[in-house]
Amino acid sequence: MTAHLTHPADVRGATPVTPELILPGTRPVPTSFVLGAATAAYQIEGARHEDGRRDSIWDTFSHTPGAVVDGDTGDVACDHYHRYAADVALMRSLGLQSYRFSTSWTRVCPDGGPVNAAGLDFYERLVDALLEAGIAPWLTLYHWDLPQALEHRGGWTERSTTDRFVDYALAVHDRLGDRVRTWTTLNEPFCSAFLGYTGGMHAPGRTSPADGLAAAHHLMLAHGKAVQALRDRDPSLELGLTLNFTVADPLDPSDPRDVDGARRVDAQMNRIFLDPIFRGEYPADLLEDVRHLGLEDHIMDGDLAVISTPIDVLGVNYYNGEAIGHEAPAAPLDDSVNGGRETRSPLPAAEHAHRHPRGLPVTDMDWEIQPEGLTRLLVRLHREYAGPAGVALHVTENGAAFDDVADDRGFVQDRDRTAYVRAHLGAVLDAVEQGVPVRGYFYWSLLDNFEWAWGYAKRFGIVRVDYDTQVRTPKASALDYARIIATRQLPPPDAPPTGIETHDDTHDHPSGDTRT
Ligand code: FCB
Repeated sequence: MTAHLTHPADVRGATPVTPELILPGTRPVPTSFVLGAATAAYQIEGARHEDGRRDSIWDTFSHTPGAVVDGDTGDVACDHYHRYAADVALMRSLGLQSYRFSTSWTRVCPDGGPVNAAGLDFYERLVDALLEAGIAPWLTLYHWDLPQALEHRGGWTERSTTDRFVDYALAVHDRLGDRVRTWTTLNEPFCSAFLGYTGGMHAPGRTSPADGLAAAHHLMLAHGKAVQALRDRDPSLELGLTLNFTVADPLDPSDPRDVDGARRVDAQMNRIFLDPIFRGEYPADLLEDVRHLGLEDHIMDGDLAVISTPIDVLGVNYYNGEAIGHEAPAAPLDDSVNGGRETRSPLPAAEHAHRHPRGLPVTDMDWEIQPEGLTRLLVRLHREYAGPAGVALHVTENGAAFDDVADDRGFVQDRDRTAYVRAHLGAVLDAVEQGVPVRGYFYWSLLDNFEWAWGYAKRFGIVRVDYDTQVRTPKASALDYARIIATRQLPPPDAPPTGIETHDDTHDHPSGDTRT
C-alpha cells in the first residue's frame, strides 16, 4: 500500500489500481455511479448584503440573541461568494463528478421581489466554472433561506408564497436553464416546516404545530407548481426534490405503544411528504393524528394533483435512524440545540414517541452511526414509492461531524469520518446489489460550514476551513474519497485510510489561501 497522490492530476485521473492496492473486502463502485459533494448557499456563501442581496429568515434568526451557538451568523461563512473559483478548483483536484449547491432566493429576488441580475451573475459564474472543470452542477432552489420580507407576510404559512417561489424558480431557469440539467426544488421540507415553524430551533423560530403543518403543505405545493412551470419551459430537465428520512423502529416491537410511536414518527417525517408526491394523497393515519391542527383547512381542490406532478429524481438525505419507545429514556441522545429560546418537539403530534439510544457509536452531533439503515431506507423507497413511479434515487446528503483535531499545518487525520463515508457508501452498494437503482452519492459537506443553529461549532466537511484565514485544507477523508473516485474501488471501513500515507506529500496541494 504505497499509493502516492502527489499531484491533483493523480487524484483526478484514472489511476491504475495495482493488485497490492486492493485490500481484502474492497468492492468495485459501478462506473456509472456519480460521486460528489454538497453544500448550501447560506452555509457557505457569506457576502450578506453584496450585489443587492437582502436578508433571509436565516440572517434574521442568526442575528437574534440566543438563536445560534456562540452568536455565529452566516455573514461571512466560508466566503465562498468570493472564493468560488478556488473552491471549484479544489473540487476538481479531488475529482468530484458532481456538485450539489443551492441558490439563494434573496440574492436572486431580493425581498422575494423583482429579479436582481447581479445575484444571478454569481450563479452563472459558478456554474460556468463547474462546467469548465467537468463537474456536473446539481442545483437546489430552496435550502431554507426564505426572503425575510416574505416571512413578514406570513412566510410558508401563507399560500401566496408558493407563487413567489415559482417566480424565483423561473428567474433562475431563465439564466441557467441551458446549462444545468438537474433541478431540485426543495431541500428537506421537513426541516423548513417543522424545525422552523413547530420546533423553533430553526428560522423563523416559530413554535406552532399548526403552522408547521400549514408550512409543510405550502412547501409541497410550491414544489409541485415549480415542477410544472419548469417542465413547461423545458421537458428535458431532470426535476425532483430532496427529502430527509428517518428509519423509525419500535424499541420493543411487541409493545403496541412503541409500534404506534414509530408509526407516528414515520408518518410525520417520511410519509407526510412521500405520499402526496408519489400517491397524490396524505396518509390516512397522519390525517387522523393531526385532525385537530387544521392541516385540511389549507388543502384546496387540485392541490394534491399539483403536488403529485411526476418527478424524475428523488434526493435522499440520510444521517441515521432511531428506536422509538413510548417512555423517555433515562439517558437520551442529546442533539438539541437551544441557546435559551423556547423550543418544542418538531413533530406536530407525537408526544409519546421518544428516541432511545441503542448503544451505537455516535458522531459529534450525538447522531447514531447506522449505515444499515440507509440500505433499508433505499430498498423501501424503491419498492414502495420511487420504483413504481420510475423515479431514480440519489443520496443527496450523508455525512458526519466529528471533533476534528488539526495539526500545525491544518491537516486532519479523520479516520472516523473516512470510515463513516466508506461504511455508508457500502450500504448504498448493498442496496444497489438488491436491485435498487441508486445513481449517485453526495457527501455532506464539501467544506466545514455554518451548521445552522450550531453555527461553526460542528464540522462536517471533508475539507477543513480555518475560519480566521479562510484557508481550505483537505482532510484525510477527502483524500480517501478522491482515491475512491479515481480508482472506483471502495475499501472496507476499517482499512487504513488511503489518504494517510499520502498526506505528507499531498495534503498541502489543494489548500493554501484560496482567495480568488
Ligand atoms: C441536513 C441539512 C444540511 C446540513 C446537514 C448536516 O439536514 O440539509 O444543510 O445541515 O443536515
